[in-house]
Parts: sequence; structure tokens; C-alpha cells
Amino acid sequence: MSEAVARAVGERFRELYGADPHGVWAAPGRVNLIGEHTDYNDGFVMPFALPHTAVAAVSRRDDGVLRLHSADIGQGVTELRVADLAPGTDTSWTAYPAGVVWALREAGHEITGADVHLASTVPSGAGLSSSAALEVVVALALNDLHDLGLDGRRLARLCQRAENVYVGAPVGIMDQTASACCEAGHALFLDTRDLSQRRIPFDLAAEGMRLLVVDTRVEHSHSAGEYGRRRAGCEKGAALLGVDALRDVPYEELDAALERLGDEEEVRRLVRHVVTEDRRVERVVSLLEAGDLRAIGPVLVEGHVSLRDDFRVSCPELDLVVDTATDAGALGARMTGGGFGGSAIVLAEARDVEAITKAVQEAFAAAGLRAPRVFEAVPSEGARRLTPAV
Ligand code: GLA
Repeated sequence: MSEAVARAVGERFRELYGADPHGVWAAPGRVNLIGEHTDYNDGFVMPFALPHTAVAAVSRRDDGVLRLHSADIGQGVTELRVADLAPGTDTSWTAYPAGVVWALREAGHEITGADVHLASTVPSGAGLSSSAALEVVVALALNDLHDLGLDGRRLARLCQRAENVYVGAPVGIMDQTASACCEAGHALFLDTRDLSQRRIPFDLAAEGMRLLVVDTRVEHSHSAGEYGRRRAGCEKGAALLGVDALRDVPYEELDAALERLGDEEEVRRLVRHVVTEDRRVERVVSLLEAGDLRAIGPVLVEGHVSLRDDFRVSCPELDLVVDTATDAGALGARMTGGGFGGSAIVLAEARDVEAITKAVQEAFAAAGLRAPRVFEAVPSEGARRLTPAV
């Protein structure tokens, strides 16, 4: 399957640029099992990679020219000069790959140009990290072609910097690390403070279970501004409590911390979510390591309630998925990613998948909403070179 994809993307590259690419790379989107809005608080997350990937055919150039093309955007080849790249100058899709080149150069890596053709199967605007997949696939290709020797964590940090500074989105480090470091059959237990990580076996099929992704196909326009506001609120909470990040508030001291925040109602809610969510990640890790997969269901639902009522990043469509799926017999369900639209995940017995899917589809139709996209997610491989094989 990936060979055929690599061949097709390579052929298109040849049509565009008149020669074979030096290589073809892939980087996946992700879903997050648990640990939401904790990554910019130095906390814990637990994503896994989707089978959906961004694929890049890339050749190195040494004349300072960067040429970018995407199969998914109805636009010709964009030609830039690496020396001219500067944050805030590009508001189109090219800011993601160009931002990666800028971040690598800023970090002292001599990137002398490239020809790039990209094609992605990660749904965009669905909260499944299509942007991180684009960034990571380009970073990995340049890492190989320029012999930089950077590991997945370093590449993830540089991609985050590209998105924070060059694109201007204040995201955390989860999505880029998930895309760069995940492994098939595993979820990634990641400490976002130092990027230390443990791969936790997550084979639902072997236990007769499935994990569904329900893309609501709604994207509320205020999501970017709200994300920044939540992040600022968390930083305010940490400052008021005298800690570097909310990760440093122990769960056992949550009540005392909330008391100290007095009448800062909004900050109190944000702090409560982050501290309890870090705890939920640790609970899920223990349950998975004990082989008690079904028991994570209620923890997922608790996480959703906390995101809905305390962190306030859910929306009616996501709540509808979670409520309908759990009413129809799901073991658990929650929104995943930043929120305000995008996708939810549903954990279910294999035998219940059909009935749950039907119930969700009917609920959306009854509410007059566009049909959601429902698919099964199997923990897949992280970023890798497709050709030539290494
Ligand atoms: C988005 C961001 C991540 C993370 C999640 C919420 O996906 O890109 O860094 O903050 O939202 O958990």
C-alpha cells in the first residue's frame, strides 16, 4: 500500500519538476486517547498515530530555492528563496513547510533549498493533526537529505517552533511528537516537559474492541482565539499559584490550590481540568499496563465532562457524539484534540460498532447536521522514509 502511494507521489513529482525525487517520506495524523490541553502545561498526553498520512516527495537543491506544491490545494508550484523566509509573511498552506525550513535554518542547520510535492490523506480541519503531519514529513525529509542527524523529539520541537512562530498558532508539542515518534500497535505516553516517552501496547482488536473516530465535520470559527485564551488562562493560574506550569500542582494538593485561587472562577476551572486530566492519563496508563482495557472507558467519559464543563472547549456536535455513543452501549467516548468541532473518539465492543455508528448517524440527521465521517482507528506507524528504503 505505501509502495503504491510512494510511486504515485513520486510520479507527480517528476511531472512537476522534471526528475525523480531523491526520496519519499510519510508522517501520520493522530488521535489523542487521553490528556487534552495538558501539553502546554508541561503535562501528560497519550496519542497514537492514524493510518492517514502526509506524504512528501522531496529533492535537495543547493541554490537557495524552495519550491512547494500540494496535490490537495488547487494551486501551482510556489517558489521561494530560503534566505527570504520570515515569520508572519505567509498566510497560505505553504507557511507549514516553509516554516519548517525557516525553523531548521534558525537553529543553525544549513538548508540549501528543496523541491517538494505533498499529498495528504489526513482530513484537514478535523482535529486530527493534518498540519503537524505536513510539518513533520518535511522536517524528516530535510533531516535525511541534509544529513542533520536529528531525532524525532528534536524534529518535533522544531516543527512546533515553525507553527508557533512562523505560522503564528500557539499550539503545544503533542501533535508533532505523536507524528514523529509513534509506533504501530502502541499509544505514546508522553511527558511534554522533557519529551520522555513510553510506548504502551494498545491492541484493541485482540481484546474484541474497536476505537472509532467520529469527525463531526464542524469547525467553529472562534477555535483559534479560544485556544489562545485557554492557554493564557492556564499560564495565569500557574503564576497565581507560584509554579512554572500547572503540571507542578500535585493532584493531592488540588483542593488547596483551588482555595488559594479564591474568586478567580475561570482560572479555577481551567486548573481543575488540567490537574485532573494529568491524573486521568496516569490512570489510563496503569489500566492499560494491567491489561484492563475496558476499564478506560469511564475515564474517557470523565475527561470529556471535564473538557465540556470546566475547560469549556467542547461544542454541541461533540457532546452529541459522546452522549449518543454512550447511550448506544459504547464503553467510553470523548472529544479529541483542541475542540470547538473536529473529532470525538468512541471505545466500543466490536459487536456494538454497527449499532453505535447507526445511532450517531441518526442523531446527526435528526439534529439537521451534516452526516459525520466515522472510521475505525488502528494505532499506526509514526513518520518514516518510504523510498528508497533504508
Ligand atoms: C491541539 C494542539 C495540541 C494540544 C491539543 C489539545 O491539537 O495542537 O498541542 O494542545 O490541541 O490537547
